[in-house]
Amino acid sequence: MDIFRIEGEAKLSGKIKVSGAKNAALPIMAATILAPGESILDSVPNLSDINVLIELLGSLGAKVWRDQDKKLHIDTDSIDSFFGDYQIVRRMRASICILGPLLARFGKVEISMPGGCAIGDRPVDMHIRGLKALGARIQLENGYIIATAPDEGLIGADIFLGGPFGSSVLATANVMMAATLARGTSIIECAACEPEIEDLANFLIDMGAKIKGAGSPRLIIEGVKELSSCEYNIIPDRIEAGTFMAAAGITGSRLEIENCNLSHMMAVVDCMQNMGTTIEKTQTGCIVSHNGPIKATHITTQPYPGFPTDLQAQFMAMLAIADGNSVITEKIFPDRFMHVAEMNRMNANLRKEGCSAIISGVSGLSSAPVMASDLRASAALVIAALAAKGETIINRVYHIDRGYDRIEEKLNSVGAKIHRESI
Ligand code: UD1
Repeated sequence: MDIFRIEGEAKLSGKIKVSGAKNAALPIMAATILAPGESILDSVPNLSDINVLIELLGSLGAKVWRDQDKKLHIDTDSIDSFFGDYQIVRRMRASICILGPLLARFGKVEISMPGGCAIGDRPVDMHIRGLKALGARIQLENGYIIATAPDEGLIGADIFLGGPFGSSVLATANVMMAATLARGTSIIECAACEPEIEDLANFLIDMGAKIKGAGSPRLIIEGVKELSSCEYNIIPDRIEAGTFMAAAGITGSRLEIENCNLSHMMAVVDCMQNMGTTIEKTQTGCIVSHNGPIKATHITTQPYPGFPTDLQAQFMAMLAIADGNSVITEKIFPDRFMHVAEMNRMNANLRKEGCSAIISGVSGLSSAPVMASDLRASAALVIAALAAKGETIINRVYHIDRGYDRIEEKLNSVGAKIHRESI
């Protein structure tokens, strides 16, 4: 198991480049199942979550490889299994993305239920509801979802896809992918508007799908008989970019972030500005600089275009040393506060109250041995450690490898001192 040793009180400067978006790459990789032949995906980040999906696609019979330019090739001609094994699916919830494409193209699929995770209960009822509306027969047996399409294929339908916490990103992805091959027109109301869903829609359109309204809460999908494989470039990862912004902010540094689309990050930029950080747009991204104390602020996570839940923990690290008191309210995953106890070990003064965290700013953080509990919480501990006094040890960094492509190499290239050790 790897750990990070992080020297605190870092000062960062220079250029740091954001990789392709994990949360766009995963559903797009699954969407290649919809068409025969070989699709080629550029800017797929090198992450363990991506490797889990590569393994899952391989277990279905697809051929998946990277070429010398690091482009990912997926050849779906040899798919001959429609079974998503628990042993693979339990390692990553986004494995559920193969449900809609397998059902739409092959008419049958059996996949393990993904189960909960450290950030809380994560049901899949909206995925199932949406696919049932398209005519799928779905049973839950022995922890598996068993789905079949009618003999004549899925049928277009009007679907309201809202849930208790608003829209669902991957339920929208699954139902949209399935609807591309359904007979007739589907309308998905209360669809997720995340840029990653828009990117998936653009990929599907390049494959020959007819989709209108991507990026808005109403998707109109006219089913087509078949789709064709294609080549596609994935958008930059707005969560990785936001993590680097928080790293610059907490260390009072100036960083140039390359390959970052600020138009996907307006809530994040607004929040950084409220905290006293300056953000200037450049041709390929932005320059983030912070001088003086961090100003306290209030943040509420919401579906896009609101502030992303995937940056909640990293911004809590920044607010931990703000001048004053802040409140962060989590409206997507009410239990996503595993990092609170770990950051308190570093001298933060955080208190969880229901689905909020009350943050009393302290004058500085101090190092401590801490435990990464999930992907974004571990990124927050890295951010906190960069500013803390002394050397912080972060255990279980495999969580961070799920979603960040060489984070320690990238941060070290701008002046951080993060050492990875295998213990
Ligand atoms: C995606 C992202 C994840 C991000 C999350 C919210 C990927 C691979 N993952 O996860 O990084 O944190 O969006 O922005 O893109 N819900 C239900 N029933 C369902 C599905 C979801 O009640 O069938 C609830 C969830 O418990 C949660 C809310 O809806 O409270 C939003 O979750 P959802 O958007 O589905 O998250 P994911 O798509 O799994």
